[in-house]
Amino acid sequence: MTARDNPTIRTLLERRSIRRFTTEDIDDDTRRVLEEVAQRAPSSQYLNDWSAIRITDPALRGRLADIGRQPYIAEAPLLYVFVADEHRNALIARTRGVEAGNPSFSLDAGYHFTQSQNDAVLALHAMETAANALGLGCVVLGSLLNDVNALIDLLRLPEFTYPVLGLAIGHPDQSPMLKPRLPRSAQFFINDYPADEDSGIGEYLPVFDDVVHRYYDLRHADRPVEAFSMQIAKVATEDVHAKAVLPTAERQGFHLDS
Ligand SMILES: Cc1cc2nc3c(=O)[nH]c(=O)nc-3n(C[C@H](O)[C@H](O)[C@H](O)COP(=O)(O)O)c2cc1C
Repeated sequence: MTARDNPTIRTLLERRSIRRFTTEDIDDDTRRVLEEVAQRAPSSQYLNDWSAIRITDPALRGRLADIGRQPYIAEAPLLYVFVADEHRNALIARTRGVEAGNPSFSLDAGYHFTQSQNDAVLALHAMETAANALGLGCVVLGSLLNDVNALIDLLRLPEFTYPVLGLAIGHPDQSPMLKPRLPRSAQFFINDYPADEDSGIGEYLPVFDDVVHRYYDLRHADRPVEAFSMQIAKVATEDVHAKAVLPTAERQGFHLDS
C-alpha cells in the first residue's frame, strides 16, 4: 500500500470544482459533521476568529447568485459564506473589561484581519475536503466579493467582520476533468527561492500551456481554454481597483495599516 492508496490522499488528489448539482438534499447529520470538521481546522493563536453563514433563504440565494454572476450559487443545496470574524472576540474581550475603544485594542488591526482570513480559509477547505470525501462536490466562491459592500449589507455583517469566500456544496451532476497543475518543481523549492534564470519557466511553460489548452472546461465547452501564460498575462493587467480591500475593511472597523 502506497501513500496514493490512502483514501484521504485519493480524495485530495481527485478534487476538482463542481459547478452543477442534482436536486438531492444534504441531510442534517451530514451537514453537522461538515460543520464540525470545519471547526476542527487549525486556528492561529486559538482565536477561532471566523464564522460561516449558511444561506437558506431562496431570495437571498438569488441575490448572491446575482452578485457572483453565477447561477449555480443559488442551485447548490448547501451554501455558506465564510467570514473573518473578530466581532465575536471583541464581545468576548469586553466580558473581561477590554473595550474596542481602548487605545491598545488590536482585534481591528491588519495582523488580526489577515489571521482571521487565514483561519476562515483553512476551515472552508477542511469542509470542502470532508464533503469531497463523502462523494459530494464543491466550488469555492470568490465571485461573491464582486460587490463586497452589497454582500456586507445583505448578510448584515457587523464591525470587525469581513466576508472571505463562499462554499457551495451538493451532489455532483457533472464529472469534470482534473484541471492541470504546474509541474511540482515549479511550485516546490528547496531551502530558498530560485534565481529567475533557474526558474525552469523556459522549459516547462510551453508544455504546460499546451496541456492547459487541451483541458476541457465544462463552463465554456464551446471553446478551448486559453494557454496558462495568456490567462496570467490577462490577470496581470486586470483593473483591480474595484476589488481593493482597504475601503471596505475600513468600513468594517479594521485598520489594515495597524
Ligand atoms: C479563492 C478562490 C475563489 C474561487 N472563486 C470561484 C468562483 O467564484 N466561481 C467559480 O466557479 N470557481 C471559483 N473558484 C474555483 C477555481 O476556479 C478553481 O479552483 C480553479 O480553476 C482550479 O480548478 P479545480 O478546482 O477544478 O482544480 C475559486 C477558487 C478559489 C481558490
